[in-house]
Amino acid sequence: MVRFHAMRLRKFNFLMVIVGFIFAAEGCHQPFAQGQALYDANCSRCHGMDGQGFENLYPGILESPYLMTAGSGLACVIVHGSDYLDEKRGGPGDEIPMPENKHLTPVEVLNIINYLSWEFGSRETTTIDQVMRAMEGCKE
Ligand code: HEC
Repeated sequence: MVRFHAMRLRKFNFLMVIVGFIFAAEGCHQPFAQGQALYDANCSRCHGMDGQGFENLYPGILESPYLMTAGSGLACVIVHGSDYLDEKRGGPGDEIPMPENKHLTPVEVLNIINYLSWEFGSRETTTIDQVMRAMEGCKE
């Protein structure tokens, strides 16, 4: 009886070690893979894979207040581009305008926001409700 228990315990320990490895491996990945793929497809050609921007043509976004504060309108910037930025500052900026991204669904916009916040921003998580509200409030 005692031996039986000891064996079960050893098996259990072995299992826990494996589970531990799985968790450790998971920990290495950032959790917003879809957001990263969408950023790479829709944003990185101007802002760069690392968010640094491109020479004088396209601004870096690493210092952007839109990245640092959750719910500050990043959804509107993504969907409406410079139409939204111009309205916020009361006129066109110096740069080439940023295009709109009306093909993205709210969930896709959310995933980009959460990826950016995780990778470069405050790591605050935005919710789908916040994105829907922001998108309703953006001017067309
Ligand atoms: C064709 C190039 C281009 C693409 C693609 C693009 N942007 Fe931009 N982005 C710009 C330019 C140019 C500006 C500055 C425009 C302005 O100030 O009116 C800008 C501004 C921004 C800003 C505001 C920076 C600040 O604080 O002033 C953010 C945030 C941003 N982009 C994020 C994104 C994200 C996220 C995507 C992908 C969904 C994206 N951009 C796609 C060119 C681009």
